[in-house]
Amino acid sequence: MRLKGKVSIITGAASGIGKATAEKFVKEGAIVAVCDLNLDAVNEVVESLKAAGGEAVGYQVDVTNKSQIADMVGDLKSRYGRIDVLVNNAGIVMDAQLAKMTEEQFDKVIDINLKGVYNCARAVVDTMVEQGSGVILNASSVVGVYGNFGQTNYAATKFGVIGFVKTWAKELGKKGIRANAVCPGFVATPILKAMPEKVIQAMEDKVPMKRMARPEEIANVYAFLASDEASYINGAAIEVTGGLTL
Ligand SMILES: NC(=O)c1ccc[n+]([C@@H]2O[C@H](COP(=O)([O-])OP(=O)(O)OC[C@H]3O[C@@H](n4cnc5c(N)ncnc54)[C@H](O)[C@@H]3O)[C@@H](O)[C@H]2O)c1
Repeated sequence: MRLKGKVSIITGAASGIGKATAEKFVKEGAIVAVCDLNLDAVNEVVESLKAAGGEAVGYQVDVTNKSQIADMVGDLKSRYGRIDVLVNNAGIVMDAQLAKMTEEQFDKVIDINLKGVYNCARAVVDTMVEQGSGVILNASSVVGVYGNFGQTNYAATKFGVIGFVKTWAKELGKKGIRANAVCPGFVATPILKAMPEKVIQAMEDKVPMKRMARPEEIANVYAFLASDEASYINGAAIEVTGGLTL
């Protein structure tokens, strides 16, 4: 078990990649804090993790709400005394071409995907520094490296969270804390539900492997990066794209 006893917060853990990451982390022995917007969905995931023999606790937390984040961190610290891993996975899309993007679309995506990542990292950093150890992982995207049609707001956030990990790697490396980003290509999750079938088919055709990633294939990378096996990986943005960008 590569994450035995590691107290791990996973945001956006009620769906898609976050849920798969929660499942992988408990399999690897982690104690998982399942954090998401909808309490019923959080409870459902916590129950299924427990049914699989894992240790998990659920929190209804909006990553834009600093007091909810502080309450979660405080509760985890009083239960377990430490925070070992933060996976900043929660994210949304609100796509439009630049000429049609509204301020609301821009602000909402920045608030959740960028400021939400800052809010959560800010809430755990003092604890990790006191411990002299910790891992912070951010959900970026291939879109944060190469841009994408209709995703001015999303691309900016996913580029931004790579900037975060490069900065945190420099600031916190000497304190025993590693920070890395994962940049998936296309992953079969509910976030793609607004996309027409023919667009999804065209995306799959562009991938040398001719398919999207399964959420578990991203979760495996988070688990590796959270583990001591990745002890010298710091400030990296790891592309997991099936070769999409070649
Ligand atoms: N699916 C893909 O193709 C893909 C590719 C690259 C990167 N990503 C990134 O991976 C992450 C997970 O995406 P997914 O595909 O699993 O999406 P998803 O929609 O299945 O899951 C996202 C989860 O985040 C939660 N969430 C949204 N806003 C939140 C908030 N304010 N506070 C707390 N939780 C919130 C949602 O409720 C949902 O459960 C996102 O950051 C996304 O940008 C996804």
